[in-house]
Formats: sequence, C-alpha cells, structure tokens
Amino acid sequence: AASTSAAAPRRGLDFVPVKPNLEDAVVVPEGFQQGIVIRWGDPILPGAPEFDFDAQTPEAQEQQFGFNNDFCALLPLRGDLRVMVNNHEYTSEEFIFRGYDPANPTEQQVRIAWAAHGLSVVVLETGDGTPEVRMHRLNRRITLNTEFEVRGPAAGSDLLKTSADPTGTKVFGTMNNCSGGVTPWGTILSGEENIHFYFANADQVTDPATKARLDRYGMKGTETERKWERFDSRWDLARQPNEANRFGWIIELDPYDPESRPVKHTALGRFKHEGANVHVLDDGRVAAYMGDDEKFEYMYKFVSDEKVKRGDSRHARRHNMSLLDSGTLYVARFSGDSPAEEIDGTGKLPSDGRFDGTGEWIALAHNDESFVPGMTAEEVYVFARLAADAVGATKMDRPEDVQPHPKTGHVYAALTNNSDRGTDGKAGADETNPRNSNKHGQVLELAETSRTTFTWNLLLVCGDPDDPATYYGGFDKSQVSPITCPDNVAFDSKGDLWITTDSSEALAANDGLYRVPLEGEERGHVMQFLSVPRGAEACGPVIEDDLVLVSAQHPGELDGASADNPVSHWPDGGDSQPRPSVVAVWR
Ligand code: FEO
Ligand code: CA
Ligand code: CA
Ligand code: CA
Repeated sequence: AASTSAAAPRRGLDFVPVKPNLEDAVVVPEGFQQGIVIRWGDPILPGAPEFDFDAQTPEAQEQQFGFNNDFCALLPLRGDLRVMVNNHEYTSEEFIFRGYDPANPTEQQVRIAWAAHGLSVVVLETGDGTPEVRMHRLNRRITLNTEFEVRGPAAGSDLLKTSADPTGTKVFGTMNNCSGGVTPWGTILSGEENIHFYFANADQVTDPATKARLDRYGMKGTETERKWERFDSRWDLARQPNEANRFGWIIELDPYDPESRPVKHTALGRFKHEGANVHVLDDGRVAAYMGDDEKFEYMYKFVSDEKVKRGDSRHARRHNMSLLDSGTLYVARFSGDSPAEEIDGTGKLPSDGRFDGTGEWIALAHNDESFVPGMTAEEVYVFARLAADAVGATKMDRPEDVQPHPKTGHVYAALTNNSDRGTDGKAGADETNPRNSNKHGQVLELAETSRTTFTWNLLLVCGDPDDPATYYGGFDKSQVSPITCPDNVAFDSKGDLWITTDSSEALAANDGLYRVPLEGEERGHVMQFLSVPRGAEACGPVIEDDLVLVSAQHPGELDGASADNPVSHWPDGGDSQPRPSVVAVWR
C-alpha cells in the first residue's frame, strides 16, 4: 500500500537481515542509518504550537501531526521536495492523556481526539540524512471536522441522510483510516476501517431491519469506549441511526490541492475497509482491490466504466478523479484444487504440494443496477457485507492489504490471522484459509485470467519456520526470517514484495518490515529489514531504492501500560512518553 518511485536508480537494497528482538528501538541492518521524520504532535501548519504533552488543545492538534499514523505515501513534488500523506487511524486516550478517566472523558479530551484522527499532508525536503518537514502551502490536516463530498451510486441515498445532512451527500470527517494506496493519477485512497467502535446505543434501535444491518457491521450494545456520544448526537445510533452508514468507505484525497474537498466513494462499497489499491487494466479501465479486515470477511474489487486518461493536464486529472464514481463492484469466491479431505486444518500441504486453485469475481452491482436478489443497488453499496453473504463469497482470514503488483498485475493479499477459524461452529479450514485457529496468517497471490476469473496460490503460510504448518514459497525454511501476521504490502523497483506485520507478538518478537522475492530461486526467501519498538505495529511502508519510510504505530501499547505507566520511551528516550512516528531508513 505504498508508492514506488519510478525515477529512482534500480539498485535495490542489499542488507543482512536483522534478528527478531524485543528492543525499545527501531533496529535496522548493519550499514543503515535511521531518523525520525515526524512524531505525533509535531507542528505541520504555519503558526502551529510546539507539542506539549501536558498542554494539549483541540486547536493545537488540528495543526499538528495526528495520532497513530498507519498508511504512509510519498509523492513527487519538485526537486528534493516530496509530499508525504499519512493516515491517523485511531486514538488511544490512556496513552494521550495522563490520569485519563475512561468513565468520564472531558469534552476537551474528546475534541482533541476528533482532531487527532484523519490524515496529514506534509511536504518533506529529502536529500542527505533524515527528510525534514517544510512549512508549505500544501501541508494540511484532515480530521473528523473536515467536510467530505459523498459520490457514486449511493450518494444522496435515504440510507445516508441525517438531520445534520438531509441531502446524504456531505459528511464531516473520516476516521479509522488504516491502509491506503496511491492512484496512478496522484491522489490518495484511504480505508475507513474499525468504525463500529465509535457508535453507541445500537441496543436502543427498534426497527428490526436497521438493527440487523447494524449487527452485521459489528454495532451492538450501549455506550462506546470513547463516549463521544455524550458530546455529539451523531455518535448515538438511537438518535442518528444513519450516521454509521456515512463511515466505512474508501476516501480519495488530492494532496496537490489544499482547497479540495475530499471524497467518499460509495461505488467501492461499505465495509471495514483496510485500504484500496488501483491498477490500470490492459483496456485502460482501472481496478481497485480491497479487503474487509474482520474474521471471515471478504475480498472485493471495483472495475471502472471509464478509461484512464494519460498525462497530468487539468482535464485528465479531473477525468481520472471521477473514475471511481461508476463501475462494477465484485466480491471474491475461491475454490481449492486439492481434495477437501487433504485440507485438515493443520496447515499440512496437500499432496499436490500447494495451496492453490481457481476463483471468480462475483458482480454485486453496477451503478444503479443490483445483481443481488432482494437488494437494491443502494443497499448493495451501503451494506456490501450482506450482498456478499447472499452470493456465497469466500470467508477469509481477515483480509488486510490487497495490492496489485505494478508490473505483473498479480494481486497480493495479506490475510493477517483468524483465531476463530474452525472453532465454535465457525467456518473451518479451506484451501485458501488452511489452518484452524490461525494465529499467524498467510499471503495469497492471485493472477486474473479474465475480468471475472483467476488462479491463486498461497505464497506464504506464516509462522515459525520450524513449525511444519508453515510454507515460505517453497524456499529453504532454515534460511528465512520468521514472519507472522502480515498486514501491509508494498513493492520495490525490482518487483520484490515488502510486508509489514501487526502481530501482538505472536512469535514473541517485535513487529517488522520484511522483503520477499516473488520470482526465480529466491521466491519465498523472507528477510527481515527492520523491527519497530515494543508494543508498536509496523505499517505504511514506502520502499524506494535509497529511502525507506515506515510507520511505527502505537509504540508502548502493551497490557498494563498507559501515560501514567509508560513502558516505551521511543522515540525520544529518557522518561518521555512514546509517540507514534514515521521513521526514515537509508544506507
Ligand atoms: Fe487497521 Fe486492518 O488494520
Ligand atoms: Ca492444491
Ligand atoms: Ca492494517
Ligand atoms: Ca492489522
């Protein structure tokens, strides 16, 4: 889910893998340097105050880098100036405020959290050493207060109307922006993921159809953990049942136009979007590949009606920024080619030596036309999970990034884990999700054979290489770095795959960034490039030949820790509070 510089020299990165570790530090290979590009709270707008942990305000946070940066993109500007865009996925109040009382957050704390969500656009000056933040007219914060335009076939639907927006076309804010992608036309796509934690009082909704839909999207119970509903009725489903339908979309942001209104794209369906990545097809149309990151959820793709226009004239840009407004939404159904009895749930390879098979993309809707019996097109888009249920899509092990290779067009999906597979009457192992109680996840490789058909195989079945229930692309497992819980993927200029992990220490080591070649004798040779600090998740990798950026999200978030009891002091050391940051690594 990151950009690759086409202009950089094709040198590739040569390194000796780092060892799994539990350091409170970013560990990089011998011969590499590192530096902090930006931390939560660093000023990014002119006049923004310096960060002061003990004097936070909503007004300051609106002008500073947000919390828990996940996806990161690095785009060209001119010369050594580059535009970095970051997602700020969620807030962890007990790490943001000393003495935080979860039963009684103050309005000030809640407003700081609204401003800490969203995205940042930051111009960097690159060159020797750590890229430096520049106060530039493109710098921008997108928060839960930023106005968005709703576009595509469900824009203006009754399902999206609220008392604050009777048109169903205008939403304030974005949240839970996890991963994302850079489009061929230079905009950013970003996925609204874990929205269900933010809406209160589903229990008080009486209409059975509304209640069933909320339930399918994980919205249950009474008050929320963050208690925002006390300060704005839009978070209270008993008062605004449609507000939840206005989140869970792919958003598009034009980082080159600081006045532009970002967009929510209804044509790409509503679910717990990890992210979206676009590939230009042979006929000039574009496909966006997407995962719904929840246990037993689905993989989707969207194919545009219109073709991409080359060049970056104003006309071409405007046209390309409308490509995701009309097209066809599909969901994936997989079939294995090995006998079902050979898939025993342990991860043991079937007798043909591969977890592989064929599959199809099942069309759910095309603009105003629904292909799902009993659902209107608007319902298909707003409740895409229910549409996918109805057509028998394959329930996957938590699809995170789903990203097309820029050269081959093969699609790589990180299926991060699924501890519930095969338990308590839940779906058991199949050839694409071959382990029950799957703690370590797998990486799937998919090659389309037509618009609606594909072949697939598992490149990696992750976990301890000494565990017979793991597979590293057929490579000698005694030579690989152990990898678990793949989350984000990216590609370098040589075409190798890079993977970051979000493991909660499933292998008793810090998360990291890994490289794995896809072709030839090195296929499956996983090598760890770096590790992130204790309690942090590695995400948002940007891989260029002479610069790597990685997000270290939620450093120090371990059980029992808080701002009153920090267990990490990264990145500033001493007795400082941990701060989510972007790290640069170079030789
Ligand atoms: Fe926010 Fe699916 O990771
Ligand atoms: Ca097989
Ligand atoms: Ca993720
Ligand atoms: Ca994750």
